[in-house]
Amino acid sequence: MRNLSKVVSGLPHFACGQIIKGFGRGSKQLGIPTANYPLEVVENLPKELSTGIYYGYASIDNGEVHKMVMSIGMNPYFENKHKSMETHILHNFMGDLYGHILKVCIVGYLRPEKNFDSLEALIDAIKKDISDAEKLLDNPENLQFRNHEFFKETINGQILINGHHKNGTKINGHI
Ligand SMILES: Cc1cc2nc3c(=O)[nH]c(=O)nc-3n(C[C@H](O)[C@H](O)[C@H](O)COP(=O)(O)O)c2cc1C
Repeated sequence: MRNLSKVVSGLPHFACGQIIKGFGRGSKQLGIPTANYPLEVVENLPKELSTGIYYGYASIDNGEVHKMVMSIGMNPYFENKHKSMETHILHNFMGDLYGHILKVCIVGYLRPEKNFDSLEALIDAIKKDISDAEKLLDNPENLQFRNHEFFKETINGQILINGHHKNGTKINGHI
């Protein structure tokens, strides 16, 4: 990470959008399912948020708020051609989540995205991200975002997806 303070200045970042199909490798190859955002949500990331691995909170269809880890970038191990935002929610959901609305609040940065010599090494790194995030997200300074009003809003299509929050919180932006 070249400039961590710059990244932190882009946080917290709130995003909301419909879950789309990725390459399906998360569930099948890694055993770590991820929910992918469409391009317009990725394009709304502030430029301070460089590629890398982040942590925060997430909800599906305004349901319970769970911890999450997120990869933002090109997935060097798989040599993707487009930047993606892939969220792994620390909760077991029944069935797939395509078409559902994912809200995330990204609160912290873990590490740069990396290439790995093997799939096992990538999986081990993601498992460590999950256990690091699990602990960090219990800190009171982070927990305030789990209870943020952003997660309490009822879903109202356009307003939430590309709008502003009542209290000045930008959706697909930061406070
Ligand atoms: C917490 C986390 C960390 C990740 N770290 C890396 C990484 O360092 N390098 C990489 O190539 N991919 C990384 N990934 C991305 C996975 O390779 C990606 O989620 C997987 O390929 C599934 O993509 P798909 O849903 O498009 O199939 C990470 C994913 C998560 C959730």
